[in-house]
Amino acid sequence: MTADAGPYAVAVRRSAEHVGRWNPVEPDGLPELLERQGPGLRTFLIVDLATGDLVGKCNVANIVMGRFCNAALGYDSYLPYAGTGRMTEGMRLVVDRCFGPLTDGGLGLHRLEINVQPSNERSIALARRLGFRHEGFTPRMLFLDGAWRDHERFALTAEEWPGITSAR
Ligand SMILES: CC(C)(COP(=O)(O)OP(=O)(O)OC[C@H]1O[C@@H](n2cnc3c(N)ncnc32)[C@H](O)[C@@H]1OP(=O)(O)O)[C@@H](O)C(=O)NCCC(=O)NCCS
Repeated sequence: MTADAGPYAVAVRRSAEHVGRWNPVEPDGLPELLERQGPGLRTFLIVDLATGDLVGKCNVANIVMGRFCNAALGYDSYLPYAGTGRMTEGMRLVVDRCFGPLTDGGLGLHRLEINVQPSNERSIALARRLGFRHEGFTPRMLFLDGAWRDHERFALTAEEWPGITSAR
């Protein structure tokens, strides 16, 4: 994945305005992100199969196993693919991998959450397209762009995931 650092930087730079309203923009951040991969963090790059171009990124973060088996999904899509449905398609694969058994290359998770700022309509639409349930509202949940931001909380458990074929 180190070879992806160049194309990643180009895609993130190109998408700075699209991403920057909601998430930090770190075009040169892939090497450091790769170094941080471990039991608590897994990153998936979403690629368009026809072109090999980078469509988006999903961090499966705050992974806690034991009796919780829970993680939080954080994601960005990149121009020119944002808004074409490819990100949704890639996220379905990520969710499927998250719920897959450890013995089969999955992450063995039971619950996934997506936390979204209330006015981020495109992210809320993506969470709903993936079948996530609205669980509630948390004031001052995450520190983003210099302030503690309110978030709507969405979640999905493995029992609710119909599997990759039915989720399409
Ligand atoms: C949130 C974000 C990742 C959503 O991604 P996206 O680019 O909208 O996702 P997609 O590429 O799946 O595109 C979805 C659109 O394609 C359409 N679409 C077309 N074919 C589709 C298909 N086969 N499956 C699903 N959607 C399809 C959808 O209807 C939707 O259209 P709409 O935007 O008119 O409603 C993106 O807006 C983003 O990166 N935002 C900035 C960063 C951010 O907010 N991150 C999340 C913080 S919580």
